[in-house]
Amino acid sequence: MRDFISTRELSAASIYSILETAEAMRNKPESIQSGRFAANLFFEPSTRTKTSFQVAEQKLGMKTLDFQMESSSMTKGESLYDTARTYEAIGAELLVVRHACDHWYDELAGRMSIPIINAGAGKGEHPTQSMLDLLTIYQEFGSFGNLNVAIAGDIKHSRVARSNAYALKTLGANVCFAAAPGFEDDSLDIPHVSMDEACDMCDVLMLLRIQHERHASASYRTKSYHADYGLTIARERQMQDHAVILHPAPVNRGVEIDTRLVECNRSRIFKQMENGVYTRMAIISILLNERGVNHENFTEKCKTIAT
Ligand code: NCD
Repeated sequence: MRDFISTRELSAASIYSILETAEAMRNKPESIQSGRFAANLFFEPSTRTKTSFQVAEQKLGMKTLDFQMESSSMTKGESLYDTARTYEAIGAELLVVRHACDHWYDELAGRMSIPIINAGAGKGEHPTQSMLDLLTIYQEFGSFGNLNVAIAGDIKHSRVARSNAYALKTLGANVCFAAAPGFEDDSLDIPHVSMDEACDMCDVLMLLRIQHERHASASYRTKSYHADYGLTIARERQMQDHAVILHPAPVNRGVEIDTRLVECNRSRIFKQMENGVYTRMAIISILLNERGVNHENFTEKCKTIAT
């Protein structure tokens, strides 16, 4: 693994190696990258992903270089590639990028000597979010084979849905989508079911926000959305006793989920955020380790995990 861009080509072994490393980080975080710089280039708003990358990097002993689009030379016409190469030349040893373009990575692919992590690519992929979602499921169920995972909401515009669909299929889970008309995605070969069916049969219900900012035309009417397609109290009561609720957040309370369910017993929404730190620590460590940048003890631990 040289970069971390997509879950599409990730093997089950690589996914498990990330999850096990994240668990090791949770149980015994180590400061292993002392004095090294990580650059976080966020071209889209972010609360959780950006902060958890910063915390992950700092827990690993790295120094973080922040980036503000509005005060950067990109306002003078500098390209993403030239900006990324600038951070590399100045001494960044890791680049974390979130960008509105689905394929921003193509501009950098094979042209950088430092690892690149995709922290969200338009409607394309969000692979680190997928890994933290998987870690949350793994902690709950211990395996993925034949687990029924329903992803519900604005599938069509969601990079989270795409990255999770690829990875969950690789791990042998049964994935289905529940989406309002216009929010379906037929490109992924995943069955669509109604929201009621999804709530009845799932072990994991992964909810998604309506991604208004990615809609090509005027904003979607949300008035009856909650009753028609959201997780209402009545639908939550239909769920199996052991079933859990995930959501990458930000949550729009009262739209895709009743506000009383955001922190209910089955909700793992804040657990996901906590797991985001350990998952990102794991991914950073594995990438740097493969480039020969690492702490000796940790290198040994990674080898043990990989075998
Ligand atoms: C998601 C994203 O940005 O794609 N959020 C996140 O990273 N935690 C989902 C969303 O914005 O709805």
